[in-house]
Amino acid sequence: MSLFHPTGPRVGSLLSGSIRQAAMTVARRDHGTPSESDGAPASTVVEARTSGPSAAPSLGPSFRSSEVIRVEHLAVSYRRSDGAEVRAVEDVSFSVREGEFVTLIGPSGCGKTSLLRVMGGLLRPAAGQVYVNDVLVKGPMPDAIAYVFQDFALFPWRTARANVEIALQLKRVPRGERRRRALDALDMVGLAEVADRFPRELSGGMQQRLAVARALVSNCGILLLDEPFGALDEQTRLVLGVQLSQLLESAGRTIVFVTHSLQEAVFLSDRILVLSHQPCRIKKTVEVPLPRPRGPDQVKSPAGQRIEAELFQLLYRESLV
Ligand SMILES: Nc1ncnc2c1ncn2[C@@H]1O[C@H](COP(=O)(O)OP(=O)(O)OP(=O)(O)O)[C@@H](O)[C@H]1O
Ligand SMILES: [Mg+2]
Repeated sequence: MSLFHPTGPRVGSLLSGSIRQAAMTVARRDHGTPSESDGAPASTVVEARTSGPSAAPSLGPSFRSSEVIRVEHLAVSYRRSDGAEVRAVEDVSFSVREGEFVTLIGPSGCGKTSLLRVMGGLLRPAAGQVYVNDVLVKGPMPDAIAYVFQDFALFPWRTARANVEIALQLKRVPRGERRRRALDALDMVGLAEVADRFPRELSGGMQQRLAVARALVSNCGILLLDEPFGALDEQTRLVLGVQLSQLLESAGRTIVFVTHSLQEAVFLSDRILVLSHQPCRIKKTVEVPLPRPRGPDQVKSPAGQRIEAELFQLLYRESLV
């Protein structure tokens, strides 16, 4: 299985926002009406609308050119069905340099997905702002950011190949090229054999890899990955992790990654942001100075083990809060 071809074709382009925003368009095109069976994309379209997308990008202040993402004093809150306010994220600031791999770890429910969704322009913050490539994020940015959702957000009525093709279709890429690029992306995640199967016919791990292929078909420089390997067995996780880091080194993509696996975090990251219990704040930033390219041996090295032990201690204390 080869996930990424470092020197091969750059597979297409599909962004978090574009998938979600495009969902209604795709559903209409496929069915004639928006789909009731796939609530996730449709509901996010509404949410993205409330986040006030604007066609007019505005330049962010004091932006260093190597910083492709800058998160400033971000806060996120939700209104629960009983009317109570949930403060999910509070005063979070950080930046991500071009080509950097930054991982967010923290207790379940602390606000990782909320943070990522604001960065992807899918959710309006209660306070603060995010800049991507000097542009204030006001809504999805399909040409800049690809997103892998924690819940996969696949279109159940489309085959695996057609799921990957969506973004290319919306960009009016000719049919033949679309098909070739989608098959390349499926091959990269080891799903070429099941290209004509529907999501319901795939295992949870295969659906997860399909969601990764859909993001990889993008030429986007920024990938926001929300637990993309969460449903995979340890070996497949490791293989995909190695290939993901190869892509990073060869293609210079900037990645913000969420995981609950400390080993995976150490293996993949340049920097790990350890988040606190809800409302989420940055508790500590841990640098991972292990040389690249990395292999499993580095994670098992004394330096790798020390970092993993530090992360464990930080999170253990956090889950006792
Ligand atoms: N739409 C919503 N309405 C109300 N509360 C929400 C909503 N979405 C998330 N929350 C709450 O906000 C908090 C943060 O949720 P979020 O999904 O960002 O956490 P997470 O860190 O990604 O969790 P996990 O590791 O389990 O995926 C949680 O307490 C969650 O219950
Ligand atoms: Mg989450």
